[in-house]
Formats: sequence, structure tokens, C-alpha cells
Amino acid sequence: MIKTLVITLGVTGLLLGQTFEYVGSRKCGMCHKKEASGAQLKVWEDSKHSKAFETLKSEEAIAIAKEKGLANDPWEAPECIKCHTTGFGKGGYEVKEEAFWNPAADDRDGKKAVKRMTGLQAVGCEMCHGAGSEYKSRKVMKAIYNDETDGAAVGLLAVTEETCLGCHNDESPSFKEFNFEEALAKIAHPFPEGYTPKK
Ligand code: HEC
Ligand code: HEC
Ligand code: HEC
Ligand code: HEC
Repeated sequence: MIKTLVITLGVTGLLLGQTFEYVGSRKCGMCHKKEASGAQLKVWEDSKHSKAFETLKSEEAIAIAKEKGLANDPWEAPECIKCHTTGFGKGGYEVKEEAFWNPAADDRDGKKAVKRMTGLQAVGCEMCHGAGSEYKSRKVMKAIYNDETDGAAVGLLAVTEETCLGCHNDESPSFKEFNFEEALAKIAHPFPEGYTPKK
């Protein structure tokens, strides 16, 4: 019975293309933090995307949730965290019970899981670039960069206006308008001009 369930879930996962797991922005930042290659981590940390989860704890967020009559606090409401975290409902961020956040002193796996979840509390790199488990190694990254591997086949997606519109739309309670060009300029983190990666 359990075995059948595991196999079924495994196959469904493959069919849905969910073999790619969210690793969190810190992981990406380990290799994308140097000034010489564009300090993508720093640019992201200084952007509002990195604070999107904290925003859900603000007075403003609490007021919005109250007005909407949500059953949960905004930071635990699926209606809000779907756009304010990384990978919610797709094997990434999940709403967890109190016990999860406070694992026993000797529960090392528990602490690891908490660290992973905490790392998904934001609009992370992977909400635009795709879940990173299969492309995050230096070898694969280099191969994609050198056009020897198709990024999409290992989960690295092309970022387009559609990517942004997945969240920047009128389902957002605070939505005003979204200008792709202007918004893109605000979050840009390119490799510096003339950047030539090491072999
Ligand atoms: C082990 C180091 C490492 C990690 C971890 C890593 N990258 Fe990379 N990434 C690279 C390298 C190396 C390149 C190629 C350019 C270079 O050499 O600087 C690259 C290139 C890229 C590119 C450009 C690809 C292209 O088409 O030219 C993107 C986008 C990217 N990384 C995003 C990410 C994201 C998002 C994560 C986290 C899920 C991540 N990287 C994690 C090392 C890494
Ligand atoms: C997963 C959902 C999501 C995606 C995808 C997303 N954003 Fe955002 N974005 C947010 C949220 C949530 C905020 C507000 C964060 C806060 O204020 O705490 C935000 C804020 C911003 C801001 C700051 C707005 C301001 O008023 O200063 C800019 C600029 C922006 N996003 C640009 C983009 C662009 C460009 C893309 C696509 C390349 C994109 N976003 C994709 C969720 C997303
Ligand atoms: C469809 C995606 C989406 C959903 C769902 C969503 N948000 Fe947001 N949120 C955004 C984006 C994008 C922004 C950036 C400002 C905007 O709307 O253009 C944002 C910004 C915010 C801000 C900052 C407001 C500001 O003026 O910058 C607050 C507070 C907020 N959201 C609270 C909530 C709460 C509370 C919920 C749940 C009831 C929620 N959001 C649901 C996408 C979303
Ligand atoms: C809101 C969406 C968004 C987020 C969040 C985001 N990126 Fe990007 N990223 C883009 C866009 C758009 C581009 C430019 C177009 C492209 O290369 O696909 C880009 C380009 C890149 C490049 C290639 C630069 C070049 O000049 O070719 C790297 C490397 C990169 N991002 C890494 C990261 C890392 C690391 C993070 C998290 C710390 C991150 N990105 C977060 C949207 C995003």
C-alpha cells in the first residue's frame, strides 16, 4: 500500500516536472556574490523581493488580511504567501506547525529543514529563474552559460514579462500598475560589461 503510494507520487512528480527542488537564495548567492561578477546576491538583498515575507508581518498586511476576512494571519495565509515566498504549493515553502519551527535540541534534521524553510521566506532567485536543485552545480552552470546544456531541461527558465505578471497582477491587494521595462530596471543584476568568467 505504502509502496504503491510512493510510486504513484513519484510518477506524478515526473509528469508534473517536479523533479526540480527549491534550494533557496543563499545557495545561489554562494557563487553569485562577487562584485566582479555583478554581486547578484547583494542586488537581490537590497531589493523588496528579499523582504516580501517580512512585509506580511507589517501593520498594513495585517489590516489587509483582516479586511479580507482571512482565517489566518497573512504570513500563514495561502492567499498571501503564494506571491510572497518561494515555491509555495510547488514543493517549496510550506505553512508549518509551531513544533516544526522549534525542533528538539538533538534533532539535526529538524534544524536543517527549518533552515531550508527560512531560506524560502522571500521572493527568491528561484521564483524568476526556476527551482535550482538540478542546475546549481558549477559544472552545470558553466555548461548552460557556454550553451552546452539547455538550461530549461535542468530547470533554469528564461525570465520574461510573463514571469513577473504571475505575481504583479490585480490579484495583489496593493496592485497599482506594472511597467515591465521600469520594473526590470529596478531589479537588474547583470554580469558587468566585459565580464569574462574563469574557465
Ligand atoms: C557552485 C556555484 C554556483 C551556484 C551555487 C549557482 N550558480 Fe549560477 N552560475 C555559476 C557559474 C559559474 C555561471 C556561469 C557564469 C560564470 O562563470 O560566472 C552561472 C551562471 C548563471 C546564470 C546565467 C546563465 C546563462 O544562461 O548564461 C544564471 C541566470 C544563474 N547562474 C542563476 C543561478 C541561480 C538562480 C542559482 C541558485 C538556484 C545559481 N545560479 C546557483 C555558478 C553557480
Ligand atoms: C513570486 C512573485 C513575484 C514575481 C514572480 C515577481 N515579483 Fe516583483 N514583487 C513581488 C512582491 C511580493 C513584491 C513586494 C515586496 C514587498 O514590498 O515586500 C514585489 C516588488 C517588486 C518591485 C518593487 C516595487 C516597488 O514599489 O518598489 C519591483 C521593481 C519588482 N517587484 C519587479 C519585478 C520584476 C521585473 C519581475 C519579473 C522579472 C518580478 N518583480 C517578479 C512578487 C513578485
Ligand atoms: C498575486 C500575487 C500576490 C498576492 C496573492 C498577494 N500579494 Fe502582496 N504584493 C504582491 C506584489 C506584486 C506586491 C508589490 C506591489 C504591487 O502590488 O505592485 C505586493 C505588495 C504587498 C505589500 C506592500 C504594499 C506596498 O504598498 O508596497 C503588502 C503589505 C502586501 N503585499 C500584503 C499582502 C497580503 C496581506 C496578501 C494576502 C491577503 C497579499 N499581499 C497577497 C503580490 C501579491
Ligand atoms: C524578479 C525576478 C528575478 C529575481 C528574484 C532574480 N533574478 Fe536573476 N535575472 C532576472 C532577469 C529578468 C535577468 C535578465 C534576463 C535573463 O538573463 O534571463 C536575470 C539575470 C540573471 C543572471 C545573468 C546575468 C547576465 O548578465 O546574463 C544571473 C547570474 C542571475 N540573474 C542570478 C540571480 C540570483 C543569484 C538571484 C538571487 C540572489 C536572482 N538572479 C534573482 C530576474 C530575476
